[in-house]
Amino acid sequence: MDFQQEYQAALSLIEKELSGCFAEKGNSEKLSEAMRYSLLAGGKRIRPVLTLKFCQAVCGEMEPALDYACAVEMLHTYSLIHDDMPCMDNDDLRRGKPTCHRKYGEWLALLAGDALQTAAFGRIAGSCRTSAEANGRACGVLAGAAGCGGMCAGQYLDMAEDGQAWNAEQLIQVHTLKTSALLKAACLLGLTASPKAPSPGQWAAAERYAQELGLAFQIRDDMLDVQSTTEELGKPVGSDTDNGKTTFATIFSLEECARLVEEHTRLAKESVVGAFENGEFLCLLARTLAFRKK
Ligand code: IPE
Ligand code: IPE
Ligand code: MG
Ligand code: MG
Ligand code: MG
Repeated sequence: MDFQQEYQAALSLIEKELSGCFAEKGNSEKLSEAMRYSLLAGGKRIRPVLTLKFCQAVCGEMEPALDYACAVEMLHTYSLIHDDMPCMDNDDLRRGKPTCHRKYGEWLALLAGDALQTAAFGRIAGSCRTSAEANGRACGVLAGAAGCGGMCAGQYLDMAEDGQAWNAEQLIQVHTLKTSALLKAACLLGLTASPKAPSPGQWAAAERYAQELGLAFQIRDDMLDVQSTTEELGKPVGSDTDNGKTTFATIFSLEECARLVEEHTRLAKESVVGAFENGEFLCLLARTLAFRKK
């Protein structure tokens, strides 16, 4: 199996589909422009790749999940736009470009985030690649992961930390909500899109994989905030330190962080081996993310 080739195949499907989004001219042209600015600025597209590959893992095809994949990337991009705003992390650079609010101002960036979030649900609800019944379930999956039982709750805890630093156990809870929840939705959306029903074991394997992958992913993100460069990362390093955040890199040494990333990656890989035909791809993806530089 050629990992890079498989990743690229999924990526090009996603990029092609996203490139057509919000392109129509209208009386809110500037709003669409701001949405496209952030959505099409690059990014690793991990979440939509997961959606496509988990669909393929069950039915052999990626295409049924293409609208769901676009939706999860729209929702993720909204979360980044809001996360960067002065009232949150106050960052100036994202995906190697000025953040949405630096380019378009705060109120337009806020609206671009809002509109990307609602567009995500619209894209799922109206998908013709999947049944109306699947679309309804998929909306529920995304809503559960994105809202006050998932990412927003994690972002709330991340922001509300006040004086008393989180301990490791609390931080795992924060990371589970703010990062693993959406990664889990990405995987489960792929299974939901599959016209062939996944087995109960496959649902459980996908959940475990995403949980562990999400923790490894966010711990690696915390490490990169300390040890990378702004040029390489495409977003400002030292942002967590400037904001006085407790992260894995403040609780543990970088060596210990690396060991934790390794351990969560191992658990992620263990969850999918044998459960899916493309388990090897999912393992290599986890491994690649564990050593990612951006
Ligand atoms: C950044 O996500 C936010 C975190 C959850 C750490 P990504 O690292 O996936 O960002 P992009 O999409 O590649 O820009
Ligand atoms: C934010 O985590 C994760 C989101 C839910 C957006 P971070 O604040 O660490 O993400 P980056 O480092 O700005 O990408
Ligand atoms: Mg943040
Ligand atoms: Mg941030
Ligand atoms: Mg970060």
